[in-house]
Amino acid sequence: MNSTLATNGRNGHTTHLPFGEKRDGPLFNQHILSVKQFDQNDLDQIFVVADEMRLMVQRVGSFDLLKGKVLAVLFYEPSTRTSSSFIAAIQRLGGSIIPINEVKYSSVAKGESLPDTIRTLEAYADVIVLRHPETGAAALAATYAHKPIINAGDGVGEHPTQALLDLFTILEERGKIAGSTVTMLGDLKYGRTVHSLARLLARYDVKLNYVSPEALRMPAELVDELNAHGVKQHQAHSLDEVLGETDVLYVTRVQKERFANLDDYEAVKGSYVITPEIMARARADMILMHPLPRVGEISQAVDDDPRAAYFRQVEYGMYVRMALLAMVLGKA
Ligand code: NCD
Repeated sequence: MNSTLATNGRNGHTTHLPFGEKRDGPLFNQHILSVKQFDQNDLDQIFVVADEMRLMVQRVGSFDLLKGKVLAVLFYEPSTRTSSSFIAAIQRLGGSIIPINEVKYSSVAKGESLPDTIRTLEAYADVIVLRHPETGAAALAATYAHKPIINAGDGVGEHPTQALLDLFTILEERGKIAGSTVTMLGDLKYGRTVHSLARLLARYDVKLNYVSPEALRMPAELVDELNAHGVKQHQAHSLDEVLGETDVLYVTRVQKERFANLDDYEAVKGSYVITPEIMARARADMILMHPLPRVGEISQAVDDDPRAAYFRQVEYGMYVRMALLAMVLGKA
């Protein structure tokens, strides 16, 4: 999927480029649909800009880089972090939002199609963040849109901005990504965050371990895709088997809403819990990550362990989303 924006209007120019304004840079005027679209230069730039955003927020809190810009936040699925971090990101950059977090109160509830909703919002906003239960929804929206679409999760497909913030977390917490052994534990079948993260990590020299209930294994197509790129992958029988070598332990919840049959969910829920006892056997410099929400996979008793990085991960997410908005809008 080419993520470059379609042209529009009689003269073939994209409609949202103010006449005569010269801006460029990686990601400028691009949709963000899948981690597959990024090259190494994009990733490096995103992390440099995210670091700048972090310093600026720590120094001044907010600043007017995106003053006058409007972000539409269109969520067809529940969200706490992704939606509020995008909102915080644009507001800290001086922009504003059109929040449609409850599509049931919008014309979607009257049966309006996704393309029509997108065409409407792009008349008001400069960029649209979209979360949708169907895989490929963001890519579909992008085929109709003349403003950048940012995929904030499309069903069991991808969650590219989460993967970027996950990578930024590893970088900030451990100083490097290459050479890491990353163990993914949990619902690797339906978890879109692990799908995007595995693809991104594949760009670096890492080893990936997968630990999950039998029914929730990493999809074979994704394993094959990464194998084709020569990524070291290992399907472990238990966490114990790989805990000692793990630099980053990435835990996910069982994605209840993706199960067709609730009995199947009941059969696997609660089958893994990170406890202080497990942390005691983990490496002293390991970091424990989770995209959140957690529903029991990490005991609260672990929260005070300095290796528990999941709430810091939340904060890194805002800096990464500030960077993405600034870059997409040509202001980074
Ligand atoms: C994740 C998601 O929505 O995929 N949440 C998030 O964006 N931080 C993970 C999840 O819901 O389990």
